[in-house]
Amino acid sequence: MRLATGSAGARILAFGDYQPARIVTNDELARTIDTNDEWIRSRVGIAERRIAGPEEGVADLAFHAGGKALAGSGLSAADIDLVIVATCSAETLVPNVSATVAHRLGIIAPGAYDVNAACAGFAYALSNASDAIRSGSARNVLVIGSEKMSQWVDQTDRANCIIFADGAGAAVVTGSDVPAIGPVVWGSSGADADKIMIADRKSFLKQDGQGVFRWATTALHPIALEACVRAGVKPEELAAFVPHQANLRIVHSIARKLGATNAVIAEDIVNSGNTSAASIPLALSHMIERGEVPSGEPALIIGFGAGLTYAAQVIQIP
Ligand code: UT7
Repeated sequence: MRLATGSAGARILAFGDYQPARIVTNDELARTIDTNDEWIRSRVGIAERRIAGPEEGVADLAFHAGGKALAGSGLSAADIDLVIVATCSAETLVPNVSATVAHRLGIIAPGAYDVNAACAGFAYALSNASDAIRSGSARNVLVIGSEKMSQWVDQTDRANCIIFADGAGAAVVTGSDVPAIGPVVWGSSGADADKIMIADRKSFLKQDGQGVFRWATTALHPIALEACVRAGVKPEELAAFVPHQANLRIVHSIARKLGATNAVIAEDIVNSGNTSAASIPLALSHMIERGEVPSGEPALIIGFGAGLTYAAQVIQIP
């Protein structure tokens, strides 16, 4: 017996993004908590972030980003047969976000599930999408990273409220003869699960910032390199490097240690803050829209965060 499979490869057709309208500057935060613009810019690299009001939830942000990606892809809602939402900040445990968003986008009866790998979630979900297409389980997949982190962060906790923000990014993935989404290199360190935590539904996010910083700047560049090796791309051949936007110092540390010498380095954190699972597709969507990265060239993405979890893969820029 020989069963049928799907496409030889998968590729991203288009990205989409959405951010709430409200911009919160460092100076605005400094009016209510003991912080200042200079500290935030030099330690984290953030100048401003977007924060959603009570009228917008994780599904709303996802709906807008997903709709934009779908419009840019040239496909219609009827073409999508799987929707995956990466999120760790949803208001509800059930129902999931993906089925609701699919319904609002007019996508009829797709497979629909959420992925929680925190800030690594988009890279995990993208890998799931690629594998589903190659196995024949799906033809076209809408992958969304969406977060309303502000509702899980104590807005008087200066260690965290200056960092985390709200937003969504999305990608439409389809089949291709030539693979354009490389093998994922993923993993986790559950022994460090207490380093970033929302302990229960009544608690706010807590993190061991220094501990996570040390881990991110020492353990992740070999993962990034391994993703390049498995894709058959040298770091110096990367046209773009788009790590999770956790801290600008982490972004440049990984880029330097990896040797991504010719890549455009994502600095979306400056104006978007840390949007967890949304940060990678949000950054890529912005970079493509601004014409900063060349279509058809390789980009490396790497997500990392609570769990601790991480995932990296090379993709072809649509
Ligand atoms: O997205 C999930 C993955 N998360 C990460 O990758 C986060 C990794 N960690 C980081 O990015 C950094 O550790 C932080 C941005 C969270 C913190 O930066 P830091 O350079 O590690 O600062 P720190 O926690 O060591 O604090 C240094 C000082 C402390 O004061 P003392 O004890 O030296 O007097 C803090 O109390 O800065 C103080 N501080 C602040 N000062 C002004 C902490 N937060 C603030 C603030 N404004 N907002």
